[in-house]
Amino acid sequence: MKFFIDTANLDQIREANDLGVLDGVTTNPSLMAKEQIKGEASIRQHYVDICNIVKGDVSAEVISTDFEGMIKEGRELAALHKQIVVKVPCTKDGIKAVKYFTDNGIRTNCTLVFSVGQALLAAKAGATYVSPFVGRLDDISTDGVELIRQIVDVYRYYEFPTQVLAASIRHTMHIIQCLEAGADVATCPLSAIMGLLKHPLTDAGLAQFLADHKKVNG
Ligand code: E4P
Repeated sequence: MKFFIDTANLDQIREANDLGVLDGVTTNPSLMAKEQIKGEASIRQHYVDICNIVKGDVSAEVISTDFEGMIKEGRELAALHKQIVVKVPCTKDGIKAVKYFTDNGIRTNCTLVFSVGQALLAAKAGATYVSPFVGRLDDISTDGVELIRQIVDVYRYYEFPTQVLAASIRHTMHIIQCLEAGADVATCPLSAIMGLLKHPLTDAGLAQFLADHKKVNG
């Protein structure tokens, strides 16, 4: 299972990368706005800066909603850096754009996926990644992890190569549950990644080991 960090914050990306277990980064227009990255040139430079920190895939989302606009924007984003994966919303024009990018050797992340039907179309169009939003489904009393399980089952049965990228992860249990459901990737906030480390028995055990060592060695 691959671990992506879901942020446009360079300090958080560096911190996760320094841990040595980071496989990539996902961003979206809201995350870019949160960092106050304004204007096309700055946004594109920011994607390059992210690619220069991590070794893996970096999702850069198109803003256009029409097919032609998505193609133009996606081509420009993909040309920024070899690690860029073009993130495209799961709409009618988006699916057409994913197919176009697939046919032209550009990798894609089909985003804003909330159903097995949408995931099927993304896979048929050849998406590299499909991003079902776990947390946003949970927010409306629908089981987000169950959707991950269903998509994984369908993709495995029909042998689609599209990787299931569990998105909208809110906490550590989401990561564990998505892992158990067979997700290929989890994209998580830094807090959820760091939360995996926490265990009171680790802290207590380490304190005891150090105290015992000190008793004998001073
Ligand atoms: C990632 O690709 C998504 O854009 C992101 O995980 C959405 O998360 P949110 O629902 O917490 O905004």
